[in-house]
Formats: sequence, C-alpha cells, structure tokens
Amino acid sequence: MKVLILPDEQAAIQRAADIVARTVSGNPGSVLGLATGGTMLPLYEALAQRHRDDGLSFAGTTSFNLDEYIGLAPDHPCSYHQYMQKAFFRHVDIDPARTHLPKGDAADPRAASEDYETLIEQAGGIDLQLLGIGRNGHIGFNEPTASLGSRTRIKTLTTSTRRANQKYFESFEETPRYAITTGVATILASRKCLLIATGAAKARAVADMIEGPLSAACPASALQLHARATIVLDKAAASELALTEYYETVHPGGQDSVFD
Ligand code: F6R
Repeated sequence: MKVLILPDEQAAIQRAADIVARTVSGNPGSVLGLATGGTMLPLYEALAQRHRDDGLSFAGTTSFNLDEYIGLAPDHPCSYHQYMQKAFFRHVDIDPARTHLPKGDAADPRAASEDYETLIEQAGGIDLQLLGIGRNGHIGFNEPTASLGSRTRIKTLTTSTRRANQKYFESFEETPRYAITTGVATILASRKCLLIATGAAKARAVADMIEGPLSAACPASALQLHARATIVLDKAAASELALTEYYETVHPGGQDSVFD
C-alpha cells in the first residue's frame, strides 16, 4: 500500500485530486469507480474546479458508482443518483449516458446486481476506483464480515452505518436498511484504487485497514491484497497508525517517493 499522509484535509483532497487528474489526463477514456459520502464532496468540488479552471475533461470517461440504496428511485432527493448529479456530474463534461449507478428501485434487485457486475466487465473493468471508509471499516457498503470474495449484491446496512447516514434523511427509521453494493472482489479487480480518509473519527478503521490483520471484520483490510492501492490521509485520520515514521520516510509530506 502507498500511504500518503498530508498535513490537513484540504491538502489531502488536493493530493487525491492530483491522482484522479493524472489518471484522466493520461487516459481520457478511463473507467472510473466513484464513491459518495461526506469525504468525497470536497474532492468532487476540487475536480469540478479543475474542469473549469484547467480544462480537465471527463468527456471520454465512463463511471460506475459503488452503491445505491434499495427502494430509492433515481429522482429521490437522498439517492446516490441525486448526490452524484449535485456533487459532480452536473459540474463537469461527463457524458450522462456513460455514468452508471446500481438501480436501487429495480423490481428484482438481485438481477440488477448481477447486471451491474456484467456492465462493469463489458466496460473493460475499472481503471481507478475511488473509495471512502466507514468508521466500522466498510468499503462501498461491504459491512464487517462481508465476504472478501464478494461481487455486486444486496447488503444489509449495520445500525452504525444507518446512524452515520441518518443526517441525510428525515429520521433513523427512514434511513434505508439495504443497499446494492459492488463487492470486495469487484473493488479488488480495479486496476488502481484510491482511498481517502479524513478526520479523527476514521483513525481506528484506517489503522485496522493498513496495519491490522487481513480480515472480513475490517473489509477495507482487503486492500492489503491490492497491488496498486493508494491511501490518502490527513494527519487526524493517520493518528492511530504505528508505522507513521516509515510512511513519511517513503513519501515525505505525502508526496511521491523517489521511485514513483
Ligand atoms: C459510499 C461509500 C461508503 C462511504 C463511507 C464513508 O458510496 O462507498 O463506503 O465512502 O461510508 O462515508 P463518509 O465519507 O460520509 O464518512
């Protein structure tokens, strides 16, 4: 794993935006795996700003989001479809026909999950997968004990994830219980992945992911198996790591190593 520790959230977001921009500029036809959640909002803002100010173009890219709540139609204000429109898609030149999210309102969510996995394969797989991390170590909505060999499917959300996401809904009761999420194995099949974590609330999960045992108890620890996983952290999210001195020796200030 490439562990990049930046002084603060803003620096971490700019560093992550550099990595996305480099991928898209290097391969304008990139297939991007996209994530939602609070951590990603400033990243999408930074990318939209680079689109406006520097001409960074997403016109040739294809995107697949990690997850969507079951039962929410694309026009539901709390759906991830709407999140993506508001946070990113409407601010850049990505072709709407090439943006994909799981169909949370499908009559048969199981079949919709299988179809989604097929669509990713038909697009040639994901070049760069963006990820956040849950306080319980989830990636996508792969909650603790999710199979590390899983593909896109239905997952039941934990109470802690529902509580964390309750702020976007009227009440805890209205916060969805189920989601369609790409699996841990789907994420591991991406050619590169980029996980971003900011803030002290993520510090324990981050330490378990990077330095803990490989275990379904912390699904993010599966990234230890990924040959090209980059983890971008601010100091607060890195605060429970034991080997910080090493990460800072390899990547001083979160910058590239001499061999990158
Ligand atoms: C959402 C997703 C989740 C979030 C995670 C962190 O698409 O994949 O794994 O990345 O729940 O969410 P925030 O950033 O809101 O703390």
